[in-house]
Amino acid sequence: MKKILIFGVSGNMGGYLAEYLLQNCSSEYEIIGVDLVEHPTVKKMVNIITMDINNEEEYSKLPTKDVYAVIDMIGPMPARMVGYKPMVYVETNVLGSFRIFDYAVKVNADRILYAKSFIDIVKRGEEQLILHVDDQPYFDYDNYHSVYCVTQNATKELLRCVHEFYKIKTFTFRLPHIYLWNTNDRYSVKGVPQKMMHRILIDKATAGETIEVWGDPARQKDMVYVKDLCQMFFKACFTERETGFYNVGTGIGTSLLKQIEGMRDVFGGKKKSELVFCPEKPNAPQYIMDIKEAVNELGYEPKYSYLDMLEDMRKERELGRF
Ligand SMILES: NC(=O)c1ccc[n+]([C@@H]2O[C@H](COP(=O)([O-])OP(=O)(O)OC[C@H]3O[C@@H](n4cnc5c(N)ncnc54)[C@H](O)[C@@H]3O)[C@@H](O)[C@H]2O)c1
Repeated sequence: MKKILIFGVSGNMGGYLAEYLLQNCSSEYEIIGVDLVEHPTVKKMVNIITMDINNEEEYSKLPTKDVYAVIDMIGPMPARMVGYKPMVYVETNVLGSFRIFDYAVKVNADRILYAKSFIDIVKRGEEQLILHVDDQPYFDYDNYHSVYCVTQNATKELLRCVHEFYKIKTFTFRLPHIYLWNTNDRYSVKGVPQKMMHRILIDKATAGETIEVWGDPARQKDMVYVKDLCQMFFKACFTERETGFYNVGTGIGTSLLKQIEGMRDVFGGKKKSELVFCPEKPNAPQYIMDIKEAVNELGYEPKYSYLDMLEDMRKERELGRF
């Protein structure tokens, strides 16, 4: 069987991707996970090879024949980091990813898929709202995201070298925040874990508590669901194209007010939360991802409206799989 390897399969997005590929790939393909750790739900779906991608010797655990696609979703990020350890970004996001690419070349894989963040361009959203694939990096060099940002941009360029030198197919994805349900509702801000803002809002909506709407309620964000990201990855696994760089998103903006009303309506019980406007509080970031390249080149078509996404997240909350 042709093998598709998902590196980072036990992470927040990995289990969803494993499931999507299992449901959509033909029986010619075997999905294999790779991670430092085994996630109990994911382990029931696919075989997981445990290894550290930074350890050259452990690559001997990986298959050497019939490897079709290699998907790199490992990249440590500030949202998951406790404290500040920039060396982890350099070691894993640059060297670790390059080792994965090198492995893919050595085993004659057909293609490599690589996930990076949109942290290099999100700041542009303040001036232009719509973020394009060819927007040049524009970011600050003095914060908890800077080294992460530089390492992921370097790795995107390294992947281009790999493509042009070895002629292996390569696809890079630029991800905004990917919405999904996970039992872990924390992320780090400046190295300190705290509850994610949308999870605070969902918990308040569930309890029927008053919700504050901070800043400008008309500011919009592209709310993309993990299952649409999976569709994009799946399509890149089977496109005839040689290479591509894609923004992940829906191409649609949802205002902060619509976001909060949606959470109130989908997660709220009989007692609906009252909304209180606090325009003096800070604004959330604003951005809409221009997804035309993914639509035109991959045939990507987002399936989840914002409310569909919330309904599905509610189901995943009940299932408690991830
Ligand atoms: N989740 C998002 O909203 C988001 C946004 C932008 C970019 N991204 C990028 O997408 C990718 C996946 O995101 P996620 O949320 O699933 O990440 P995650 O942190 O939840 O998962 C990463 C997985 O990689 C594994 N891993 C870390 N270091 C490893 C190593 N040295 N060897 C082997 N395995 C290792 C971890 O055990 C974990 O299971 C990352 O590259 C991230 O930078 C994610």
